[in-house]
Amino acid sequence: MDMIDLRSDTVSHPTPEMREAMANAVVGDDVYDEDPTVNQLQADAAAMFGKEAGLFVVSGTMGNLASVLAHCQRGDEMILSRFSHIFLYEQGSSVAYGGVQPSTLPINRDGMMDIDQIRKAIRGDNPHYPITRLICLENTAGISGAPLTVEYTDQVAALARDRGLKLHIDGARIFNASTALNVDVKTLTAGADSVSICLSKGLCAPVGSIIVGSKEFIARAYRVRKSLGGGMRQAGILAAAGLIALHKMSKRLHEDHATARQLAEGLAALPHITLDLESVRSNMIYFTLLPTSPITPAELSARLRDYGILLNSYISEEGLFRAVTHYWIMPEHVERVLDAVRAVLSPAYSAAD
Ligand SMILES: Cc1ncc(COP(=O)(O)O)c(C=O)c1O
Repeated sequence: MDMIDLRSDTVSHPTPEMREAMANAVVGDDVYDEDPTVNQLQADAAAMFGKEAGLFVVSGTMGNLASVLAHCQRGDEMILSRFSHIFLYEQGSSVAYGGVQPSTLPINRDGMMDIDQIRKAIRGDNPHYPITRLICLENTAGISGAPLTVEYTDQVAALARDRGLKLHIDGARIFNASTALNVDVKTLTAGADSVSICLSKGLCAPVGSIIVGSKEFIARAYRVRKSLGGGMRQAGILAAAGLIALHKMSKRLHEDHATARQLAEGLAALPHITLDLESVRSNMIYFTLLPTSPITPAELSARLRDYGILLNSYISEEGLFRAVTHYWIMPEHVERVLDAVRAVLSPAYSAAD
């Protein structure tokens, strides 16, 4: 990658090893369930997460939607974070295509909804109410990169089980969570009825997500995937990269967490920037450009672009920025970013501009 791209880990390109595996992939027609590479990816993911079956889908959005629709009926309700990707950034597709109503709750700085609030949000048996069917967690929490712990997930799972609900985990970055917590994904997601795992974010695959769960759940999700136009043909070309993502790239994420910390520590030491180092838990960092800064948030992004650095403000009016590290961000890139930010924030640079 030519630019130093910190906008997201979704920008990560496939590795040379992935490209070679894709070129040589053994393929078949996956709509006939005859693609051996897809079948292997699905089986391997299921085994890794300790679930009965897996399903390769086009994207994290499709993985979440297929899961919600497989768990819920029209008119059901699901409980999820007000800041979750499913609620904020998936076009309300659970409502649009499944008639599933969201019931949203706030989260704390560790990305967790309060368990008592979840309990209170579960509807009683009353004909005036929708039926609460599902709880969704997001791990890591996209709003902060915080990993949800095993203890918390188990508590939510126990509550869900107790009240006859299902638990879905949007595990777009579940391997970042397991790396941050130093616990395997099987343990971390043991209580979940379904998990959606993105292969194309920090794991570098070009396309695709996997959902895992029971055989019955996957059979229902399989039908939903087809109806959403997600039945693919020689998808083994993509699954070949997915296998490397799953088995190899999932094991190196501590490197991205280290570059995130390096970047965070460097930025926190600069003037005109506030950054809470304790909030940096995985590969995401958030920082605020203070009003004392000689340049605006938009100018910071524009000037960094001149240095070959892509970094967008998250909420521009508040000067809030998000930077995400990934496979293609090395420690020397972080040093270049810090030098560039230091330069563009210096009064001399601004005066000369
Ligand atoms: C937490 C989370 N869930 C789901 C998704 C959706 O993934 P996709 O972009 O592959 O649809 C994203 C994408 O950024 C995400 O951050």
